[in-house]
Amino acid sequence: MQTLSQYLHQHATTPAVTAVMLALADGCRAIGQAVRNAAFTGQTGLAGSGNIQGEAQKKLDVLSNDLLAERLRSQPAVCAFASEENDSITLTPNPPHPGGVLVAFDPLDGSSNLDINAPVGTIFSLLPAPAAATVSEADFLQPGQQQLAAGYALYGPATVLVLTVDATVSAFTLDETHGEFILTQDALTLPAETGEFAINAANLRHWGDAIVRYVAECQAGRDGPRSKDFNMRWVAAMVADVHRILSRGGVFLYPADRRASAASGKLRLLYEASPMALLIERAGGLASTGHARILDIRPASLHQRVPVLLGARHEIERLNDYHTS
Ligand code: F6P
Ligand code: MN
Repeated sequence: MQTLSQYLHQHATTPAVTAVMLALADGCRAIGQAVRNAAFTGQTGLAGSGNIQGEAQKKLDVLSNDLLAERLRSQPAVCAFASEENDSITLTPNPPHPGGVLVAFDPLDGSSNLDINAPVGTIFSLLPAPAAATVSEADFLQPGQQQLAAGYALYGPATVLVLTVDATVSAFTLDETHGEFILTQDALTLPAETGEFAINAANLRHWGDAIVRYVAECQAGRDGPRSKDFNMRWVAAMVADVHRILSRGGVFLYPADRRASAASGKLRLLYEASPMALLIERAGGLASTGHARILDIRPASLHQRVPVLLGARHEIERLNDYHTS
């Protein structure tokens, strides 16, 4: 039995990554507890505020953000952080230093699921701090391949933490009795083939030709050009959909579509697409916009959206072909 702390001391590239990961894990443990106890603590419903994306914040969105911010602010390795719930970056008292870390996070992903007691999660990305006197927003705009580490927590029947700090992806389950994350799956790998896809099919009439073709061929099953039946799943929380894919394969699609509001898709590059792309690629899958590898994209702004097609290697290669043919 290996604890998260023991694992990180063996696998993480620097002591700073270990320290930040442990702080994030502690934040996720607290968020999981807050989510489970919300009915008794008054943390249900809307906060009465909105974030920069125009989304109505729930009380738990705000609390989760605070729980992570609190821990990151007092973490000596962290120089600044960016959150889905904050318009701009937050500087910590620690100026940039060698080995310093920037953190970008989505504190409570899929929070519309809270109303129905369905899974939600937290996504985080660690980037190197600049070699400068202070951190600015531009320092966060690094392509995803420069991430030092990334991961997510899923608050489901169990609280699970999935992360990558080296070339591999590992999963930890929270032992609620002792408050410790325990390694439960090492070196997760993603099969290149699948018979399962995930997409919000209500947007079908807005999709471009490549997505329409791909989904129609999956739906045609063994009677169509793919000559095999596909299954469809949609949890409506990216963390849970990606966790299913890392657990048993599949593809997850949140494409751009023809609506002006969805011209770049829905998901945010820095703290949703990039960390998930790193996990998926390190597990042997691919993550693409249809035209570009997500990890190669240099963000233009903190809350930039990006189309996301990720999962089984052969399926994403096929989707890339459909976008260029
Ligand atoms: O963070 C955005 C998000 O909640 C993702 O977690 C999820 O995959 C997606 O939006 C759900 O979108 P929709 O409302 O279209 O089902
Ligand atoms: Mn989200």
